[in-house]
Amino acid sequence: MPDHAIIIDTDPGIDDAVAIFTALASPEIEVLGLTTVGGNVPVAQTTRNGRAIVALAGRHAVPVLQGCGRPLILDPQTAETVHGSDGLADLDLAVPDGPAAAAHAVDWIVETVAGRPAGSVTLCALGPLTNVAAALVRAPDLAERLAGIVLMGGSVFVGGNTTAVAEFNMAVDPHAADIVFRSGAALTMVPLDCTHKALMTNRWIEQIDRLGTPVGHAVAAMLRFYQRFDMERYAFAGGPLHDPNVIAYLLKPDLYAVRRCHVAVEITSPLTRGMTVTDWWGRFAGAPNCGVVHDVDADGFFDLIAQRLADL
Ligand code: RIB
Ligand code: CA
Repeated sequence: MPDHAIIIDTDPGIDDAVAIFTALASPEIEVLGLTTVGGNVPVAQTTRNGRAIVALAGRHAVPVLQGCGRPLILDPQTAETVHGSDGLADLDLAVPDGPAAAAHAVDWIVETVAGRPAGSVTLCALGPLTNVAAALVRAPDLAERLAGIVLMGGSVFVGGNTTAVAEFNMAVDPHAADIVFRSGAALTMVPLDCTHKALMTNRWIEQIDRLGTPVGHAVAAMLRFYQRFDMERYAFAGGPLHDPNVIAYLLKPDLYAVRRCHVAVEITSPLTRGMTVTDWWGRFAGAPNCGVVHDVDADGFFDLIAQRLADL
């Protein structure tokens, strides 16, 4: 019996792909399905990418449901410069024949959670929160039926990667993020403060390549493409591997440090829109609504990801 039944809401996206592979490789996790959202690339492409990823992992039965193609209010913005024009380093991975699943991702999330015991499904959000917000609005009981929402996004002290203060997933759809952080769901946020401590090395990427498997070769090629952007931007020694931290947190929470804080999302000012305003000292806002994951055992994280990818 797996420890976790999860829905992965995602905008693959190279780091999303590594997170999805890791989840699919882990017996502790039952992946109920992927729901795709517009983000790194448009939603039609994130859906193709989701289908290609589950196929490459040999997990063809995992459903992929297409979701929202644009933010609730803002115009879409994408990140092809980081992830490639197809969102997966332009590897042109094979997509299974036939149409994607017919249901809309938002409906599927609501119905899947409603059809399982309360508290048994965790929603892992790796992209902009448009689908998640829409599902919470469509089904007001969803927040309490979920075991929780573990999301990659936000930034507390390290600034933004899309604006001076906003991380991409929050910046793309701050209004959706605001709904999620006000929902009352059991939230865990994995912000840049954590993921900027999970910097890849060429040695680790070569280790993944040496797995000698189709997944290993594809992931290594993706990561070589992906890490150059952040290394140039931040002068980091390696690229931060964001989304797999959500899955690793479920698998080995002891690798992480978490602090309960009140987090609110700025939606009004064009200057700070998408900022995750965090009451770190617990002095100025209401009761904490979120576990903020602010530190990671990076060696333990990369060992875990490599171990799991070796099993695909
Ligand atoms: O800011 C990094 C996040 O935005 C990651 O989830 C990446 O895939 C993009 O969605
Ligand atoms: Ca993502």
